[in-house]
Amino acid sequence: VSGRFDLSDRVAAVVGTSWNIGTGIALGLAGAGAAVACLDRDAVMAESAAREISGQGGRAIGVQCDSTTEGDVGAALSAVANQLGTVDILVNGAAHYNQKGILDTSVAEWRSQIGVILDSAFIVTQDVAHRLVEAGRPGSIITLISTAGFQGEVGNVAYCTAKSALLNFTRAVAMDLAPYGIRANSLSPTATNPREGLERAARWGLTVSGEGAIASVDQAATILPLGRAPSPRHYGDAAVFLASDAAEMITGEELRVDAGAIAKYWRDGLR
Ligand SMILES: NC(=O)c1ccc[n+]([C@@H]2O[C@H](COP(=O)([O-])OP(=O)(O)OC[C@H]3O[C@@H](n4cnc5c(N)ncnc54)[C@H](O)[C@@H]3O)[C@@H](O)[C@H]2O)c1
Repeated sequence: VSGRFDLSDRVAAVVGTSWNIGTGIALGLAGAGAAVACLDRDAVMAESAAREISGQGGRAIGVQCDSTTEGDVGAALSAVANQLGTVDILVNGAAHYNQKGILDTSVAEWRSQIGVILDSAFIVTQDVAHRLVEAGRPGSIITLISTAGFQGEVGNVAYCTAKSALLNFTRAVAMDLAPYGIRANSLSPTATNPREGLERAARWGLTVSGEGAIASVDQAATILPLGRAPSPRHYGDAAVFLASDAAEMITGEELRVDAGAIAKYWRDGLR
């Protein structure tokens, strides 16, 4: 990666680095030259992601951190600052799935799912922004949404609601931070080709059953305009763009990496 896409003088923090999408994005940023801090509540994910990046020649550290807890986030970002430097690029990706609809989601489940998705984005963005403003540095904040933030998905009420809220969180944050040269954008994955993530999970020594996921995404992908579902590395490429100087005039924007899914007229799904 060269020229305006080069991130070699930047420090990135990716929150939520499972073997699936977060690490795909972390690898993309590292491939463009950024030093990457992999933050996850699960130490195995944080450490394995960092090891994967180092194994491919990048610079990375893993930091265990509950991104919904201010104290944890502050300590993690201070550790990153000491080891790599001030975070210039943040990727907000902490989420958890529940797959329940309005008729069967308990209030406790609603609060916990909304809490992880929204509190994490708010708390980490605020801490990273304070540090950048204090240091007088520009920056790029990227929040992962989902095509489920644009459409009502059956049996996914809390997730759809929280992800949709992050669209306007991004715009509001973009307005607050524009005077400081800090950009805030969102990036939306969609139902993802599981192969890349499953291969990574196997390399990490994790047992994840993926047969059903492969069959189901392959079948759904037949109605995608581009004919195949994106892989985590495609989100990584888009994140590199949003993080880089090539996107210096882009803030408050949403970038869907969905093979054309949301642009499609619903009735054409039958063709
Ligand atoms: N997988 C998909 O098809 C898909 C589609 C659209 C959007 N997305 C979004 O992309 C992002 C990554 O998706 P994924 O499928 O790789 O998710 P995942 O569930 O595999 O990984 C999420 C990671 O976040 C971590 N996490 C959860 N709560 C946390 C907390 N409080 N503090 C720190 N870490 C926490 C988990 O430990 C996990 O490693 C998510 O924001 C998700 O909503 C995924």
